[in-house]
Amino acid sequence: MKTIIVANQKGGIGKTTTATAVASILNAKRYKTLLIDADQQGNSSDTYRAAIEGSATLFDVLLDEERISLEEAIQHTESGDIVASDPLLRKADEILNGDPEGLYRFQDALDQLKGYDFVIVDTAPSLNSILYNCLVAADDVLIPVTADRYGLQGLSQLNDTINAIKRRQNRNLKIIGLLLIKYNKRTLLSREVKGSLEEIAKSMNTKVFETTIRESTKAREAQAVRETLIHYDAKSTTAQDYSRFVDELLKEEEL
Ligand SMILES: Nc1ncnc2c1ncn2[C@@H]1O[C@H](COP(=O)(O)OP(=O)(O)O)[C@@H](O)[C@H]1O
Ligand SMILES: [Mg+2]
Repeated sequence: MKTIIVANQKGGIGKTTTATAVASILNAKRYKTLLIDADQQGNSSDTYRAAIEGSATLFDVLLDEERISLEEAIQHTESGDIVASDPLLRKADEILNGDPEGLYRFQDALDQLKGYDFVIVDTAPSLNSILYNCLVAADDVLIPVTADRYGLQGLSQLNDTINAIKRRQNRNLKIIGLLLIKYNKRTLLSREVKGSLEEIAKSMNTKVFETTIRESTKAREAQAVRETLIHYDAKSTTAQDYSRFVDELLKEEEL
C-alpha cells in the first residue's frame, strides 16, 4: 500500500482537484484506492458526494474520544472509496496538543488498514497537526504548483517541514515530485514559472513531473456540480492531462 499526501499550504492551488482526479482515475483503473479528505473544508468529500452529517468521518478516526478505525469510516461512492472530512477537524491542534503521541494517530489508523493499493490524502491549506500526522505516516508527498506569480510561494517552508519530519519521525518520506497545474503555454509567465521550477525542484531533492496539467474551465465547472473531472468530462484536456499524469505516477511507483 502506498500513501500519497497531496500538500501545499497555499489555498486555491489545486490540491483538491488533483487528489480527487488522481484517486478517481486510479479507482477507474481498478487499483484499490482510498481517498481521505483531511481538509476541514471538505471539498473532496463534496466532489465525491460523501455524507458528512450522520456519518463517520476522519474526526471519529483521529480525534474522537472513542476512536474508530479507518475501515469503519469508509464510504463507497460512484467515484470510489472515501473517508470524509468534518468541520470539527478544525479542533485538531487543540485536541492533539496535549497528547505526546498526538503525531502518530494517523499512522496508527493506517497501520490497521488492509486491502488498498493506494491511499490518497487531500490536505488543508495550512501547516497544522493533521498535516504533520499525514506526513509522519506517508510514503510520498505530491506537491501541486501553479504557473502564476504566487504559485511558488511557501514551497521552502513546506520543504523545511517535510525535512524536519524526515529527520525525526519518518525517514522514508519522499517528495515524489512537483506537478505544474493550471498551465497555459500562451502566457509568458507560465513559461517562465516552468523554467524556474526545475531548479526549485532540485533544491528540494525532487523533480518536476513531465506531465503538466493545462488550465481549463472544466475543472471549475466540475467542482461546481460536485463531480470529479473524469466523471464530468473525461474528454476535457484537464481530465486527459490527469490521466497521463497518473500513468507517469504509476511508472514511478512500480520502480
Ligand atoms: N487545471 C485547472 N484549470 C483551471 N482551473 C483549475 C484547474 N485546476 C483547479 N482549478 C480551479 O482552481 C480552484 C482551486 O482548486 P482546488 O483544487 O479547490 O484548490 P485547493 O484544494 O488547493 O484549495 C478551483 O476553483 C478549481 O476548480
Ligand atoms: Mg482543497
